[in-house]
Amino acid sequence: MIYLDHAATTAVSKSVREAMLPYFSEDYGNPSSLYLFAQKAKKAVEDSRRSLAGLLGINPREIYFTSGGTESDNWAILSAFYSAMGKKSGLSCSDAAGQKQRQPHIICSAIEHHAVLESCKFAESLGARVSRIPVDREGFLDLEALEQAITEDTVLISVMTANNEMGTIQDLRAIGEIAKKHEVLFHTDAVQAFGQIPLSFSEMGIDLLSASAHKLHGPKGIGLLVIRKGVRLPAFLHGGAQERGFRAGTENVPAIVGFAKAAKEAFATMVEREQRKRELQKMFFRRLLQEVPGMQITGVNPLETSEENRLSGNVHICIEGIEAESLLLLLDQKGICASAGSACASGSVEPSHVLLAMGKSHVEAYSGLRLSFEEDLKEEELEFTVEAIREGVERLRRE
Ligand SMILES: Cc1ncc(COP(=O)(O)O)c(C=O)c1O
Repeated sequence: MIYLDHAATTAVSKSVREAMLPYFSEDYGNPSSLYLFAQKAKKAVEDSRRSLAGLLGINPREIYFTSGGTESDNWAILSAFYSAMGKKSGLSCSDAAGQKQRQPHIICSAIEHHAVLESCKFAESLGARVSRIPVDREGFLDLEALEQAITEDTVLISVMTANNEMGTIQDLRAIGEIAKKHEVLFHTDAVQAFGQIPLSFSEMGIDLLSASAHKLHGPKGIGLLVIRKGVRLPAFLHGGAQERGFRAGTENVPAIVGFAKAAKEAFATMVEREQRKRELQKMFFRRLLQEVPGMQITGVNPLETSEENRLSGNVHICIEGIEAESLLLLLDQKGICASAGSACASGSVEPSHVLLAMGKSHVEAYSGLRLSFEEDLKEEELEFTVEAIREGVERLRRE
């Protein structure tokens, strides 16, 4: 098998699995229990939180564990909305009364993951106003439109760090500056970028950040939301006092330990992995351009720029006259796992909202193919994949 869908998920690495194992059946105590035995589990959770905070250069108290990127995105967006409505927040009655007539306004980009888009839609159904800011042909946010959209009712700007389909990395510094200038909270969904590119909360003005372990060889079902000190958001899950009362529920100790281990390894190897992936990405694009007539690079073209504003493990192309779903089936027959867009949207017949937002036609949007890989991809595998795509495209064009 040639696995080219790392943006969808990754395998749990051996070292991560080993770090997790003791917390299933040996040190299985509930971190909230008071006896000594359970304190091992509690220590594991707090050590993990400290380790993750160290990697991010923040205070451990700013990290809240969640069930993954989707929950973190929901929390950031809906809690910012609830807070503004004065519904579930710690707002005083007079604050709440003062805001009663106002309609909280949320801004996101048009190319967010569904976890953000659907949270915004839900907030809209509860009374929020949502602005979806357009992007250009490479997938970069229109910063002027962003600034113009801000009003005194804007409570949150949510823009993803890097896109899960074509890998465009947004200018977070510029977005953070705009958010600070207008005193609006800035949330970034960093699920695809976490552990892949350096992130700086202070330089980028980030108030809230979502991440997920399963994109970096950690387990599925564990993520985090960073809530910077001073940002007041209401609790998301109500019940016990876990996560300082903001996210109730017995902690998933093995997963938390696995997340911290996976992140530690990803951060330690980020630079060297990045270098190799950039080489492979260029090689992939060059070879595809040579072998597949009528294909176009989607988003930033790394063959034409030295700026590193595209995730290095991402290759996305649109192929004239081809339905990506049909091509994927042919690739699958050859043991190649790839994607026609985001995994969460597959199964739906809708064309990618990301590609449409970048100005692609419906036909072009249906032809999008994403290959996401890591530094261990062998050049023979790359060649085999290019050849399989060439053959598949030829066959589909004949039929
Ligand atoms: C950009 C982005 N945000 C959010 C998510 C959802 O994360 P999770 O699968 O941990 O819920 C994903 C997963 O594909 C993603 O790529």
